[in-house]
Amino acid sequence: MGLAILSTVLTIILFCRAHIVEATLQEVIHNNALINNGSIAFLDKWSILGPFRIGTREAVWGADPIERYGGIFQLDDNDTAAYHSPLARNATVRWNSRTFRPIVSEASTTVDLVVDFSEIDWDIAQKIYGWSALQYQAWLKGGVWNDGGTSRRVSIYPEGILELWLNNKHIFGGDFYSFGRAPIVFELAPGFNVVNVRLIRDVRSMGGSSSPTAHVLLRAEVVAADLDVDHDSILLPDVIAGRFVGRYGSVIVRNQATVWININRVRVITDEQSAVVLEQNLTISPGQSRPVRMRIDNLRNLTKSIKLVFDYELPDASSHRIVCEAQLRPANHSSLQRMTFLHPSGAVSYATLRPPPEKVDREVAILLNLHGAGVDADGDLARHMFDDAPDLPAWIVTPTGMTSWSGDDWHTWGFADALAAVEAILDWIDLVEWQGPDPYTSKILVAGHSNGGQGTWYFASHQPDRVLGAAAASGYLSIENYVPYVHWTEADPLQNAILHVARSNFRHELLAENFAGIPILQQHGSSDDNVPVYHSRLMNTLLYQSGIAAKYSEMPGTGHWIDGTMTTPSMMEFYLAHLNDADAVSTAPVDFAFVVPNSHDMGPKYGIVVDQLSSPDRAGHIEVSVAQKGSVTRWHLSTQNIHRLHFDPGVQISNSPVEVMLDDMAHVFHLTNKTRSRSLVQTEANIWAWEVALDWRQLDKRYGRQRGALDAILRSEGVFEVVLCSNTSFHLAVQASRNFLQYFGADSNIIYREEYAEALTRRGNIVTIGLGRTIPRCAMPRFPISVEHDRLLLTTGSSKTASIPLRPGMGGVWLRPLPQERLELVVWGHDEAGLQQAIRLIPTLTGAGQPDFVILGNEARWKGVGGAVAMGFLDRDWRISSASYIP
Ligand SMILES: *[C@@H]1O[C@H](CO)[C@@H](O)[C@H](O)[C@H]1NC(C)=O
Ligand SMILES: *[C@@H]1O[C@H](CO)[C@@H](O)[C@H](O)[C@H]1NC(C)=O
Ligand SMILES: *[C@@H]1O[C@H](CO)[C@@H](O)[C@H](O)[C@H]1NC(C)=O
Ligand SMILES: *[C@@H]1O[C@H](CO)[C@@H](O)[C@H](O)[C@H]1NC(C)=O
Ligand SMILES: *[C@@H]1O[C@H](CO)[C@@H](O)[C@H](O)[C@H]1NC(C)=O
Ligand SMILES: *[C@@H]1O[C@H](CO)[C@@H](O)[C@H](O)[C@H]1NC(C)=O
Ligand SMILES: *[C@@H]1O[C@H](CO)[C@@H](O)[C@H](O)[C@H]1NC(C)=O
Ligand SMILES: *[C@@H]1O[C@H](CO)[C@@H](O)[C@H](O)[C@H]1NC(C)=O
Repeated sequence: MGLAILSTVLTIILFCRAHIVEATLQEVIHNNALINNGSIAFLDKWSILGPFRIGTREAVWGADPIERYGGIFQLDDNDTAAYHSPLARNATVRWNSRTFRPIVSEASTTVDLVVDFSEIDWDIAQKIYGWSALQYQAWLKGGVWNDGGTSRRVSIYPEGILELWLNNKHIFGGDFYSFGRAPIVFELAPGFNVVNVRLIRDVRSMGGSSSPTAHVLLRAEVVAADLDVDHDSILLPDVIAGRFVGRYGSVIVRNQATVWININRVRVITDEQSAVVLEQNLTISPGQSRPVRMRIDNLRNLTKSIKLVFDYELPDASSHRIVCEAQLRPANHSSLQRMTFLHPSGAVSYATLRPPPEKVDREVAILLNLHGAGVDADGDLARHMFDDAPDLPAWIVTPTGMTSWSGDDWHTWGFADALAAVEAILDWIDLVEWQGPDPYTSKILVAGHSNGGQGTWYFASHQPDRVLGAAAASGYLSIENYVPYVHWTEADPLQNAILHVARSNFRHELLAENFAGIPILQQHGSSDDNVPVYHSRLMNTLLYQSGIAAKYSEMPGTGHWIDGTMTTPSMMEFYLAHLNDADAVSTAPVDFAFVVPNSHDMGPKYGIVVDQLSSPDRAGHIEVSVAQKGSVTRWHLSTQNIHRLHFDPGVQISNSPVEVMLDDMAHVFHLTNKTRSRSLVQTEANIWAWEVALDWRQLDKRYGRQRGALDAILRSEGVFEVVLCSNTSFHLAVQASRNFLQYFGADSNIIYREEYAEALTRRGNIVTIGLGRTIPRCAMPRFPISVEHDRLLLTTGSSKTASIPLRPGMGGVWLRPLPQERLELVVWGHDEAGLQQAIRLIPTLTGAGQPDFVILGNEARWKGVGGAVAMGFLDRDWRISSASYIP
C-alpha cells in the first residue's frame, strides 16, 4: 500500500513540474488544468513576514510579535509597512513573497514550505547567542483553492507546525514533530481559503546547522467517508504459536462527519473465528480522532493476517461498517518482538522485548533501553541496537514513551510508559508460556542514548533505589542546557523564576547528589555536534563534586551515533558487571544527601520517601548521616523544605535505620516493623512527630499523583475527560483532545458540562474548558482561585485576597484537586480570545514550564509569560505558595 501511494505521488510531482513550477498565484488558481476539475490546491505563491525572535519552547506562551499589530488574521500581506524585529536590519522586516511547489490532485494537495532568511547574519548572532540564535519565528500567509463550487471537508496534516489559522479558525497544537496521528478536520469553502502558518524554528527538532532553514509541510486530503480508520496506526503485538504476545491492540479512528459517531462493535475475524474486541462503546465527536482499544488475548490459531470489522452508528440511527485487514508478524521465544500493554492512562502502548537466553537458570535482570528523539522503538535503528550482544543475559525492553519523541522526553508521561513496559514482562511470560528464567523486577539496569540518555538521568535520579546501574550514552542534561533560553521575551524576574521552578524537576544538573551509590557509566563522542560532549563532561564534574565516581568513556572523534553505540566494549563491560548485582543488598554510605524536586516520580533513596514538601517553590533536601551505636543503626536526617516523609519497608539495605533523629530535635524515633511505613510530619512549629491521623490523604491535601507542576495533569489513571462548559468553544475541546493524542498518544473523552458529574465517577483526570462563570465549583470548599462576575479572586493567605478585575483577552489555567489523587485542570477564558490563549498552556511540548496556575492578560499574546497577570504554585494544602507572582 505504501509503495502504491509513493508512486502516485511521484507521478503527480512529475506531472506538476510542467504546470506549476513557474506559475504565479493567479495562474495556479485560474489557468491550471489540474485544479479545474474539482481538485484542491495549495497556492504556490505565499507571503512571508519575519524573522522575529522566539525563545526555546516559548511559543506555548504566545509571544507572537504580530499580535501587537492586531494578529496575523487581521494583517494584509500587501501592505508595505515595517514590522519591528530585533533580528533584522534596521530593526524591521517587511512582507516578502516566496514561491513553493505544491502538489495537486483531485483528492489531495501538499506543499512543502521551506524557508530561510539569507539576509540575516546568522553566524555572528550564533557566535554570541549560540544555538538559541538559530531559532526564530515568522508568519507565512497563503491559501488553498477549492475548485468545483461546493464546500469540502478535508483532513489537514500540518507537519512541523505548532500553530496556524485556517480562514478564521485558529489552531494551536498542530503537529510539531510530524507524528501524523490526528489531522485537523476542516471544511473548505468553495474557492479561496486563507491559510496562515506560524513558523517556529526549533533547533531540537530542525537541527543546529548554521544556515537555519525552517521546513514544514502542509497536506490536505479530501475526506472519503464519515469515519476514517487509520490503517497506518494499527498497533498489534507480534504472534507466537498462534497467540498475540500482548492483551491489547489499538487503532486510531477519526470522525470526519459533522455529527457524533458511536462505535458500538469491533470484531476481529480470522480464518477460524470471530471475536468481539471492543470493551466499551466509543463516542467520537465531529473532528475528533481517538485510539480504539481492542482486547485481543482470547484469539487463538492466528496466522498471517486478521480482519478488523468496525460497526458504527450515526445520530440518525443508521448503521455503517468498515472492514480492514491487518498483517500479523510472527515471533518466537528468542526473537526481539513487539509486545503491547496499557499505559496507566488506559491507552495501548508497546515496547520491544528481547527475552534472555532460555538456558540461564537464575533470575535475570531487566535492561531498560530508552531511545532517542525521533527514533521508532520498533524501527530498524532501535531493533538492531543490541545485535552485537546476542547472549547478553538480560531482558532488554525498549519502550516507546508513547511517541517517537518519547512523549514528553521520558518525563512524567514517558516515564510512566517505561515503568508500565517493565511491568508488562510478567504478562508476556504468562501469555507465551515462557519456560526460561524469571525476570528480576525490583531493580533494573537503565541505559539510553541521546534523549534516552537524558531519560536515563531522569530515571536514576528519581528512582535511585530501583536501579542496578545507569548508562547514559550521548545524553543531554536538561532542555535548558541543550538549547539555551536566551531569546525569551522579557518578563519580571519572579515570572522567570516560576518557570525555572516548574522545569526544575527535569534539571538533572541539580539532582547529581541522588546518584550516590549508583553505578554510572557515561559515554559520549567527542565530536558530537547534536548533543555536545559538554553535557557529559559537566555531569561528570558535578558527580565528582558530590563525591560520586562515575565511569566515563569519551570516544575521540566520534559523533552522536555510530552502529554499536549501545554495545561498545565499555557499555558491555558495564552491563555485565551490574546485571549480576541483582541479589546484592546495598549499604547506605555513612553520609549521603538527597535532593527532592516536587514530583510524584520521586521514589525512595535508601528507603527514605518524601511524601510532601513544605513549599513547592523550591526543592527539598535531606542530608543523612548513618551511625552505628552498638548493634543499633541510627540515622540522623537534616532536612530542608520537607514536610512529610516515611521509610519504604520494601527497600532492602544492610544498615537500615532502627532509630531516626530529625533536624535539631533531641527526640529519637524508633522504627519498628509497625511504624516503618507511617509518616513523620513536621508541624508549623518545626517539630517532627508521627502522623496521628488515620488517613491524612484527604481532598484538601496535595499528595501522590497530584504532585508536580501543571504537567501533573498527565498522571491520569484513565482516559482524559475533556469537559466543555461553554458550547461555543466546541472546537477548543476538539483541539485539546487532538493535542493529547498527537503529542502523547493519549485518549480523551469529550463531554458537555451536563455530564460533568458522570465524569467524576470515572477514573481519568479532567480538563474543564469554559468561558466566564460556566466552570463548575471546586469540590474543595476553600480552594483559593475563584471567578466572580467582574473579577477573579486569589486567596493568598488566611485573610489576604488579590482581586483581579476581568478584562478582555484574559484567560487562565489552574489545577484543582479531585478525590483519589485525581486532578482537574481548569482552562478558563473571560472571553473567546482569553480562552484561546489559556488553552495553549495544556501540556504539549516539554520545556515550556507551566506552573500550577497562570492567569494571562491580553498582552500575553505578544509578551508571552511577561503578559501573565498572576502565576505560581499551589502547595501541599492547595494554598497559593508564597513565592507566587500575584498583583
Ligand atoms: C480535466 O477535465 C478535462 C475535461 O474532462 C480533461 O480533458 C482533463 O484531462 C482533466 N484534467 C485532469 C488533470 O484530470
Ligand atoms: C492591496 O490589495 C488590495 C486588495 O487586493 C488593493 O486594493 C490594494 O491596492 C493593495 N495595496 C497595495 C499597496 O498593493
Ligand atoms: C535601512 O535603512 C536605511 C536608511 O533608512 C535604508 O537605506 C535601507 O534600505 C534600510 N535597509 C533595509 C533592509 O530595510
Ligand atoms: C453499545 O451501543 C449499542 C447500540 O448503540 C448498544 O446496544 C450496546 O448496549 C452498547 N454497549 C455498551 C457496552 O454500552
Ligand atoms: C486451533 O486449532 C486447533 C488445531 O487445528 C484446533 O483443535 C482448535 O480447536 C483451534 N482453536 C480455535 C479456538 O479455533
Ligand atoms: C526465532 O526468530 C528469529 C528471528 O525471526 C530467527 O532468526 C530464529 O531462527 C528463530 N528461532 C527459532 C528457535 O525458531
Ligand atoms: C520485621 O520484618 C522483617 C521482614 O519482614 C522480619 O524478618 C522481622 O522478623 C520482623 N521483625 C519483627 C520484630 O517482627
Ligand atoms: C450544549 O450542547 C449539548 C449538546 O448539544 C446540550 O445537551 C447542552 O444542553 C448544551 N448546553 C448549553 C448550556 O447550551
